Amino acid sequence: MTKKLIVGNWKMNGSLAVNAGLLQTLLAGLNDDGVAADVALCASAPYLAQLQALLQGTALGWGAQDCSAHESGAYTGEVAAAMLRDFGCRYVILGHSERRQYHGENDDLVAQKAQRALAAGITPIVCVGETLADREAGRTEFVVKRQLSAVIHAVGHCASEIVVAYEPVWAIGTGRTATPEQAQTVHAVLRSQLKAASAHSSRNRILYGGSMNAGNAAELLSQPDIDGGLIGGASLKADEFLSIIASCPPAAAVI
Ligand code: PGA
Repeated sequence: MTKKLIVGNWKMNGSLAVNAGLLQTLLAGLNDDGVAADVALCASAPYLAQLQALLQGTALGWGAQDCSAHESGAYTGEVAAAMLRDFGCRYVILGHSERRQYHGENDDLVAQKAQRALAAGITPIVCVGETLADREAGRTEFVVKRQLSAVIHAVGHCASEIVVAYEPVWAIGTGRTATPEQAQTVHAVLRSQLKAASAHSSRNRILYGGSMNAGNAAELLSQPDIDGGLIGGASLKADEFLSIIASCPPAAAVI
């Protein structure tokens, strides 16, 4: 198993000044402690040039929070995956529940975006997750498998190139985290789905997201099928984000 992957999802937050301060503190903190995990930050598109300028050559990678399903052309307001690549993005978050909820994104659209990202050489971080109503109706497994299967079918032989983020919608930004057991159960389901899809599925990393913080990260990250975290609120606070990174078990100890 590879190193854990910790990704900060800044959402629609930040400014040139705030980002610069946060990145400076993060880089200083990582230099002191060494980096136990692969780490990346996903910012709003206007700040990608700043991330590229400040993070090139450092231990921190960066990425975006969405891309267009189209390659180029008359799609006002959209950002193409190739443009993200121009700014050095290694990752793009796709199908986040906030995009599914507020922007009407469905499984097919997310799958098309994943294809575009891969074609541009960017790793899609595909978000899946059930709502509270889904969970209470016993539909968690059905929903996450349906969401992932759309992407697996669209990307075909590239299925092992995606990162999956399990983000129960009821845990995002709510302070209510899935228990390590609840998260592990769903991660195991996703792991077997990825295994069935590709002979190279050992390359897939499955992240947990939803109110992960310095207090609960170690236990979540010690679960066998949790390969990292997608961190929203806690990624905006340098100390908190550094503690989450520091709570990753070293790669050699990961079975
Ligand atoms: P949160 O967000 O950590 O603030 O719950 C996670 C996410 O939405 O990716």
